Amino acid sequence: MSRSLGVTVNHRPDARTVVTLAVRDFSYDPFDPAVMADPLPYYRVLRDRHPVYYVEQWDTFALSRFADVWDVLGRNDGTFVASEGTLPAATVLARHNDGPVDDPPLHPMPFHANFDDPIYGGVRGSHSKPLRPRNVAGLADRIRRLANERLDELLARGSFDLTQDYGGIVAASMVCGLLGLPDDVAPDVLGTVNAGSLAKPGDGVNTATARPGYLEYLVPLVETRRAEGADGTQPIVDGLLRYRLPDGSALSDVEVATQMLGVFIGGTETVPKIVAHGLWELSRRPDQLAAVRADLDANVPVAREEIIRFCAPAQWFARTARKPYTVHGTTIRPGQRIITLLASAARDEREYADPDEFAWDRPIERLLAFGRGQHVCLGVHLARLEITILITEWLKRVADFEVDVGAAWRPPSSFQWGWNSLPVSVSASVPSRGN
Ligand code: HEM
Repeated sequence: MSRSLGVTVNHRPDARTVVTLAVRDFSYDPFDPAVMADPLPYYRVLRDRHPVYYVEQWDTFALSRFADVWDVLGRNDGTFVASEGTLPAATVLARHNDGPVDDPPLHPMPFHANFDDPIYGGVRGSHSKPLRPRNVAGLADRIRRLANERLDELLARGSFDLTQDYGGIVAASMVCGLLGLPDDVAPDVLGTVNAGSLAKPGDGVNTATARPGYLEYLVPLVETRRAEGADGTQPIVDGLLRYRLPDGSALSDVEVATQMLGVFIGGTETVPKIVAHGLWELSRRPDQLAAVRADLDANVPVAREEIIRFCAPAQWFARTARKPYTVHGTTIRPGQRIITLLASAARDEREYADPDEFAWDRPIERLLAFGRGQHVCLGVHLARLEITILITEWLKRVADFEVDVGAAWRPPSSFQWGWNSLPVSVSASVPSRGN
């Protein structure tokens, strides 16, 4: 009989679930269907017993403690690079490297995150302008208007999907605006991104095969913009069209569209899941909800940080070592990979007291949900603003709502383990906007 470790997790808002894992036979694989269905008990064992866990099949080390992930992501000295992608599929990890992996060839250029500086920083900087804090602040009115337009329609309907129909459409509309796509394609963009992010057991997310769908939207847009003349009034696409690589070459239309995928995907898929899940957590705790409602302007930004910690769906991002790195006595050799388990770091009891509890005003000094260092989320300021406004406007207009727990859907995933679908019924609302 193997000895068991009782692990109590509070990850399902509908119930407190007790999961036990056999410690003696413990094994972790990010693509194991059981892990993809519910990774949290695995993370607890990893943090406690195997903070540097080696997955032989993928020649990859899983780092699960907050402090270790914080240190690794903070190193911008070329020890770790993303030359094999930040989200490699199993087919990539199955190839083991004999030594350091070079940056990919310049053309055809893959997503720029696969390069180290100066190319990485150059491409990122060429299209980051609209996502800088001052420019993002100027988007608040548009987000508020979109949120209220959604609420006008949804509250009249009474029952709908909180993830997709509310935050989903608003976030996708913001992405359309940023990239120069018309707002009316937002539902299609949302559907395409959701479909592309579904992970297969044993394989993970294969963004390479999902790409034709994404590029259908983006390549024609780039072609049009090139023909019109990229005068800078569409800063993302124009910035990429005007960018020159260190060898003087420009990006082709498909290469420009490929760089836009970060905003296309990152901007669409995460915010809606966090907003819906966060509202659900609050609704299950009437005392916390009342405390937040007491002063929305002051309290939503505080609650937002706990909602992000507790609900952020991204599980991990990968890096490949280019220099040896030793952690907890284990040396990671050049060519081997690490995966930084951000979702485990968010539940690390060494960083957060009682981390499986949701507490709207818990002190949060450090957060890894947006990553850190070189690859820190480009959309972090927009994400925070969208979440603040979507939650505030909802709480202003919705007095009471109920989640259909049985119909809520969180598909197994090695990547985005979040509530893709959260059906709700609103029983009491304020009809006109702005009240
Ligand atoms: C709460 C919502 C969001 C969360 C939790 C989140 C999280 C993250 C994380 C953890 C990374 C780093 C990946 C790594 O280390 O390899 C990242 C990267 C990125 N995110 Fe976000 N994200 C969010 C929203 C957004 C939004 C709204 C946008 C754009 C409008 C966006 C665009 C990007 C892009 C372009 C990158 C790639 C950065 C790079 O490698 O240069 N994200 N995001």
